[in-house]
Parts: sequence; structure tokens; C-alpha cells
Amino acid sequence: MGLGGVLEDWRRDPSRTLRLEQDYARSLPFSLRPYGHWLSHAREFGELKVGLWTVPGSPSVALVSWKAFPGMGTRVSHLFVDSPAPSPTLLSDILAVLSEREGPVFALTDLLAGLSPEEVRPLLQEMGYVHFEHVDTVFPSGKPLPPVPTTGHWSFRSIAPSDEAVLVEISCRAYAGYEEQLMWPTLDLRRDLMDYVRDSLSGGEEKLILGASLLAFAGEVPVGYILSSLPSNGNPYVASVQVDPAFQGQGVGRALLLQVLSELRALYPAQDVGLTYVRQNVRGRALYESVGFEPLPAEQRRTAGSWLSRKALASLPQSSVKPGWGENGE
Ligand SMILES: CC(C)(COP(=O)(O)OP(=O)(O)OC[C@H]1O[C@@H](n2cnc3c(N)ncnc32)[C@H](O)[C@@H]1OP(=O)(O)O)[C@@H](O)C(=O)NCCC(=O)NCCS
Repeated sequence: MGLGGVLEDWRRDPSRTLRLEQDYARSLPFSLRPYGHWLSHAREFGELKVGLWTVPGSPSVALVSWKAFPGMGTRVSHLFVDSPAPSPTLLSDILAVLSEREGPVFALTDLLAGLSPEEVRPLLQEMGYVHFEHVDTVFPSGKPLPPVPTTGHWSFRSIAPSDEAVLVEISCRAYAGYEEQLMWPTLDLRRDLMDYVRDSLSGGEEKLILGASLLAFAGEVPVGYILSSLPSNGNPYVASVQVDPAFQGQGVGRALLLQVLSELRALYPAQDVGLTYVRQNVRGRALYESVGFEPLPAEQRRTAGSWLSRKALASLPQSSVKPGWGENGE
């Protein structure tokens, strides 16, 4: 069903709003991953709302879905514009109203269907949003695997759920001073990382591959780790690569990654191994490219990028939720 059809349906029966996200997810050429751990420290997830934006006398119509996190702000999940002459000012108008009524829009997807990215980009940048492009890569199943370097004095062992505290500590150190490259909005990095590690170790939505999730040691000291998971598409996925800064640049990241790849090759010989990073992450990118990960063609991208405004997040407004917006097409 195209946008027009879904909108018509919605006009006829607004009670369907919560199912709209599902409808769209099916009609899009890529999967929309829920950002489950975003703002996970808030615990109580914001409520999903869907609104229709119309301007009197204008044929333009936009469908917006967002989550309002009371006391924190708003994350726009989807925006679909149906207009004979789409204008980026439509976007700034929508963001202004959402920010005023629901709290500052701190994040929005870059899937702004119906608006041209070339027009949207300068507008959002001017408003203080930073773009995070998620680079989806794979290590192809048929590609020869580089050998694990033997020069470093690292040892590896499989991660166990009892390693949670160690993983959190390494993650906190790895991300310290690195916040500008964080693609998720964070108010409490340790809490976010704790949630992430805990979710991952408990299986979460995607199954952790324990045999290919490794902790690296220099002697007795844990210095880095990698988590691998098995998403529902059946292709193993390298989900988290972290090295303690005190041990970075010494080869542990490369050795760990190659060891994990060799474990995954043994477990899933016919499967490509996926890995996603954000383009800002120059160190990660250099590592993944040098090991042999290849970017997926645009049509096979699995994840969408995002825009983030730390300024909006920093303002931390009190809840200003005013329900009802969009119900009568205002
Ligand atoms: C990315 C990261 C895991 C690399 O680990 P590392 O142990 O420092 O990496 P290595 O010493 O094995 O280096 C491997 C390659 O990474 C790249 N690299 C490492 N440090 C780099 C730096 N400061 N600048 C640019 N490239 C760098 C290089 O390509 C390097 O290969 P080379 O030594 O032949 O030039 C580490 O920097 C880290 O934990 N960063 C913070 C968390 C993070 O961003 N994780 C990845 C999320 S997708």
C-alpha cells in the first residue's frame, strides 16, 4: 500500500495509528530497526504517536511518527511527505511544533521520505543536528580469512554472562572522550553501556554467539572484547568491538577481530559476517577495511542513518506533552 492509500485508511479510521508503523515497515525497501537501546537508561520507553500534518489550503500532507520521552524530548521515527512541491521548511515547521509541544526533537531518522536529502541536510545542520551514516559492511563467506597475528601477547577466551562488569568497564573506557562519535543520544554513558551489555549478554532480541564473543587479555588484565550475535536473517553479526584505550594501537583490536572471524567461519562457513559502524568512526573504519570488510551496496543496506542534536538533548526540558496534536489535522 502506497503512502496515499495508508493515509486514506488512516483518515477513515484513526484508531489504526499504532499499526501504521507496521504497514510502513513492510512497504519500505529496507528493514527499520527499532533503536531499542537508545535512551535505554530512561527505562520507560516513550509512547509512540502518529500524527498527520496538513496545512490549510495546501495539498501537502505529511505523516509523522515519534516517541515523546517525558522530561527529555522527542525522537522522530518516521516522516513521510506527500506533496507536489515538497519544501524543507515543512520539515523545520514540523520539528518546531513537535519541539514546542512534546519536548525538543533530539533525534530523527534520515528516512525523510518525500524530502530531498540535498535540501534537508543543510537545514538540519544549521539547526545543530549531526548526521550519523551507518555503514553496513560484510566479510564475504567466500573471502579468504587473514591469519590471526601472533605478534601480540594476547590471549582470548569466550565471554560468559558473568563477565558483565568487565565488559561495562572496558566499554566505558573505550568510549571516554569519544562522545561526539556516539550515534545514540546519551545522558549517562555508563548506564547506557551497562544496559547494552546486559541486553546483549541476556540474549536480547538477537541471540549472542557465545563461542564467537571473546574477551582479550594481556596477561591477567582484560583489555578488549567483541560480541557476536545471530540476527533473524541468519547471518552472523559482529555487534560490538571495544579495546581499552591504554591498549589501543597495539594490535589487540585486529587480533581479536580476526580471531572472532575465524570462530564465525568455523561455525557458519557459508554465511557472510555483517558489521555496521558509523562513518565518523575513523579508527573502526580503518580496522574493518584493513581486515577485509566490504561496504554493502546501497540497496542491501540493513540500517538507516540518523540525525542527532546534542543541543536539544542537553536542554532537558520538563515534560510538556500535550496529547491530541494531529487528531484533527491541525
Ligand atoms: C576501533 C578500535 C576497536 C581499534 O582497536 P585497536 O586495538 O586500537 O586497533 P589495532 O591496534 O589492532 O589497530 C588495527 C587498525 O585499526 C586502525 N587504527 C587503530 N587506531 C587508529 C587510530 N588512532 N587512527 C586511525 N586508525 C587506527 C588502523 O587501521 C590499524 O591498523 P594499522 O595498525 O595496521 O595501521 C579501538 O580504537 C576502540 O575500541 N575504539 C573505541 C570503541 C569503538 O569505536 N569501537 C568500534 C565500534 S564500531
